[in-house]
Amino acid sequence: MEVMVRAVRGEARARLVLELEDAEKRGASRHKGLPKAASDLVRRAREERVFRGRNGEVTTLLLSDRSALKTLVLLGLGSRKRSSLDSFRRAFGSFARQAPPGEIRLDLSDSALRDAAKSLGWERLTRAIVEGALLGAYRYEEFKSAKSSSAAKRGAKKKGAPSKLVLEADALSAPDARRARRGAELGQAAAEAIAFARDLGNTPANELSPAALAARARAMARRHGLTCRVLDESALRRESMGAMLAVAQGSARAPRLIIVEHRPRAARRTLVLIGKAVTFDAGGLSIKPAQGLQDMKFDMAGGAAVLGAMQLIAKLAPRVRVVALIPAADNVIGEKAYRPGDVLRSKSGKTIEIINTDAEGRLLLADTITYARRFDPDAVVDIATLTGAVVIALGSHISGLFSNDDKLAAAIERSAETSGERLWELPLFPEAYEAIKSQVADVKNSAGREAAASTAAAFVGAFAEGLRWAHIDIGGTAWTQRTRGEVTTGATGVGVRLLGDLAESFEKEV
Ligand code: BES
Ligand code: MN
Ligand code: ZN
Repeated sequence: MEVMVRAVRGEARARLVLELEDAEKRGASRHKGLPKAASDLVRRAREERVFRGRNGEVTTLLLSDRSALKTLVLLGLGSRKRSSLDSFRRAFGSFARQAPPGEIRLDLSDSALRDAAKSLGWERLTRAIVEGALLGAYRYEEFKSAKSSSAAKRGAKKKGAPSKLVLEADALSAPDARRARRGAELGQAAAEAIAFARDLGNTPANELSPAALAARARAMARRHGLTCRVLDESALRRESMGAMLAVAQGSARAPRLIIVEHRPRAARRTLVLIGKAVTFDAGGLSIKPAQGLQDMKFDMAGGAAVLGAMQLIAKLAPRVRVVALIPAADNVIGEKAYRPGDVLRSKSGKTIEIINTDAEGRLLLADTITYARRFDPDAVVDIATLTGAVVIALGSHISGLFSNDDKLAAAIERSAETSGERLWELPLFPEAYEAIKSQVADVKNSAGREAAASTAAAFVGAFAEGLRWAHIDIGGTAWTQRTRGEVTTGATGVGVRLLGDLAESFEKEV
C-alpha cells in the first residue's frame, strides 16, 4: 500500500467512497463529486443492505463499461456519533487489506471527511488515515520463503500491482490542503516507525540477541540523524549495574545498554525514555511453563517501542533533548544463571533479594533508571512488558500507567488520547512500596500475586526517588493474536505514537 496527497483531480478508474453507518437518510447528494450512475449505485447498495457502512466494512462495486470510472470501493466508517481519529485509523487499516490492486482515488472534499475535519482538523485526520492505511497492510514476512505455495500466491498478488491510495486535495482551501499534506507526511513517518518497532518485536529470539538489537538501533540512528552509543558487558560492569548483569549472566548472549539520543541545539528540557528489552524471557531458574513461551520473544517490546519512538521523534524534531535507554538481555537458564535467594547489589547501592528470577524486567529498569540520573532529566518514562497481572487487570487493548507525578501522568494521558493508544492509570500507594520490602535486603523483586502490577511498578518506582517518573506496563498490549483495523497479528508497535506525541508536548509545560 502506498498513499499520497495530490492537488489535482483527475479522471479516476477507481474511487473510494466513505459511508457512515447512520447516514442513509441523507440521500445520494452526499457524494457531490461522483457521476450520477455511481452515486445511484452507492444508494442502491445501501438500500439493498449489500453494504451497511459498519466500521471497516469494504465492498467493491463495478460500474458499466461505458463509464471512465470502473470501480467503486465503499468503505464504512461506522456511526457518526463514534467518529474519531481512532475510527478513521481502524477503517483505513481494514481497507488496506481488502483494497483491489491499482490506483484508488479519494476526494478529500467528500462530506464525511469535511465534517470530520471540522472537529478533528485536517492534519490529524489525514495523519490517522495514512497511519491506518499503511499499518493495516503491515505483515511480517521475513521468514516466508518465496517457494512455499501460500507465500507464492501472495507474492504474485503483490508483484502485480500494490494498491495505491491517492488523496485528492484540489477542492480544499490552500491552507487546508497544506495541513492535509503535512498530516499525510507525519502519518507516513509514524507508520514507518511503528513498522520498525513491529519488525523488531516479530523477529524471532534466535535472530535478535542483545547485540543484534544494538546493531539495528545503530543502523536506525544513523539513517535518521540520531546519535547512538552501546555499552557492552564490561562497560556495564564498570558502571556497577549489578542487577542487570545478574539477569543476563545465565545466557551465552551478553547484555547491552543501548543509548540513542535526539539532541537539538535549542533544547531546554530533557526527557529520558527507557524501554525493557528482554530478548527472550524463559523465566530463568524460576522457569515459565511451556504454554505460550514462544510469545516471550516479544519481551523486548518496550525497547522496540522506544526505538520506534526515537525514529518518529527524529522526524517530528521537537526542541527537547530526548535520551533513549534500552537495557537488553536474555533471561534464560544456564550454569551461571542467577538464583532465587540471591542478593544483588544494584547500581543505586540498594540491595535486592531475588524471590523469583522471572521478575527480571524490573531489575533491568532499576539499574537503567539509576544510569538515567546523569542526564539530569525533567522526566523519566519507562515502558515495559512488565507483568502478566496487567493483562488480567486491563486486558489486551489497554496499557497500565503508574506515576509518582500527577502532572506527568496527565500529560501521558493526553498523549494517549491524541495517539489513540489506550491506557489507564493504576494505583501506586505506599502499601505497594511496603510490600516489596525484604527481610534480608533493602527490597525484594517479587511480592507475590496480590496487586502484582502495582508492586512491580513500586519496585521500579523505588529506584526513581526524587525523579519525575512514569511507568507504562504493556504486558497486555505489546502483541496480539488477532488482526483488527490497523493492528495486525504479532507485535503491535504500541507506545511508538504515544511516546512520539509525549516528546512533542514536552516542548511546552508538562
Ligand atoms: N515478561 C513477563 C511479563 C509478561 C508475561 C508479560 C506474560 C506479558 C505476558 C515478566 O518478566 C514476568 O515474567 N513477570 C512475572 C512476575 C512475577 C514472577 C512476579 C509475572 O507477571 O508473572
Ligand atoms: Mn519474566
Ligand atoms: Zn519479562
